Amino acid sequence: MGALDGRVAIITGSGRGIGREHALLFAQEGAKVVVNDLGGAIDGSGDDRTPAQQVVDEIKAMGGEAVANADNVADWEGGQRLIQSALEAFGELHVLVNNAGILRDRVLVNMTEEEWDAVIHVHLKGHFVPTRFAAAYWREQTKAGKPVKANVINTSSTSGLLGNPGQTNYGAAKAGIAAFSVIAAMELERYGVRVNAIAPAARTRMTVATPGLSEVVKAPEDESRFDIWDPANVSPMVAYLATENLPFTGRVFFVQGGKVQNMTPWQMADVIDKEDRWTVAELETEVKKLLG
Ligand SMILES: NC(=O)c1ccc[n+]([C@@H]2O[C@H](COP(=O)([O-])OP(=O)(O)OC[C@H]3O[C@@H](n4cnc5c(N)ncnc54)[C@H](O)[C@@H]3O)[C@@H](O)[C@H]2O)c1
Repeated sequence: MGALDGRVAIITGSGRGIGREHALLFAQEGAKVVVNDLGGAIDGSGDDRTPAQQVVDEIKAMGGEAVANADNVADWEGGQRLIQSALEAFGELHVLVNNAGILRDRVLVNMTEEEWDAVIHVHLKGHFVPTRFAAAYWREQTKAGKPVKANVINTSSTSGLLGNPGQTNYGAAKAGIAAFSVIAAMELERYGVRVNAIAPAARTRMTVATPGLSEVVKAPEDESRFDIWDPANVSPMVAYLATENLPFTGRVFFVQGGKVQNMTPWQMADVIDKEDRWTVAELETEVKKLLG
């Protein structure tokens, strides 16, 4: 018996990298999978249907069920078609893994409008659009009296949650995705939908292309040693977050190698309160108390 027997899952950007590993593991665990990927370059340019189809072929070769979808996740009609493709192929939908992403790194002072917009578009809108239409479907099911036990798993990054120079566009989108997940979890609980997010770390074309990281993410020469950067290490946690009886929602986890780490959200910390309006001069001395 697989952990995801009978589950229908859409995994965006699953033609390559971490998403491909999710798709293969989901199928091994018994899920029927929609392998979405528009097959673009790392910066989001171009398209190629081959990667998604190859993953579908691999899943079918091991006896699993999968269909390919090449829609752009950040496109309003495309995202809608993506949700529809799961319903057409398998008649239902239980899991949405938002994973598709691109990179256009540049220091802030040199970043172009296009580099900013492209990254915010693919990540932030590319999480919103499929979630929006999947959520509408699950609300419909709930209103029709059908029990819903659905899961959304989003993909954030330490680049946003902890910060990484050269990635104001990517980091802002990824921190936004964590906030989006927490709020969506609050809104969708009433429809039986749990929303969580991961911040993964793995060897893919994205990390291999990042200055300073290409050496770090290399597989160990000694093959008997555990390869902490293998992208397949991330997928078991995502598969767990997709299970029917997952007992929590609204959480973010860092996942790398054998590590699953709780990422605590922003918290209200030390406070100064005058119980009246501050003057600027007072704040000049009082705010120091908050800085530790
Ligand atoms: N690799 C890491 O260490 C790491 C770290 C933090 C976060 N992430 C995130 O994990 C996710 C997967 O990244 P990866 O490292 O596997 O990179 P990758 O480039 O190997 O895979 C991303 C896939 O998304 C697809 N894609 C891009 N834009 C799309 C769109 N608009 N619609 C549909 N598909 C689209 C690409 O074609 C590609 O196959 C991304 O969201 C990335 O930001 C990765």
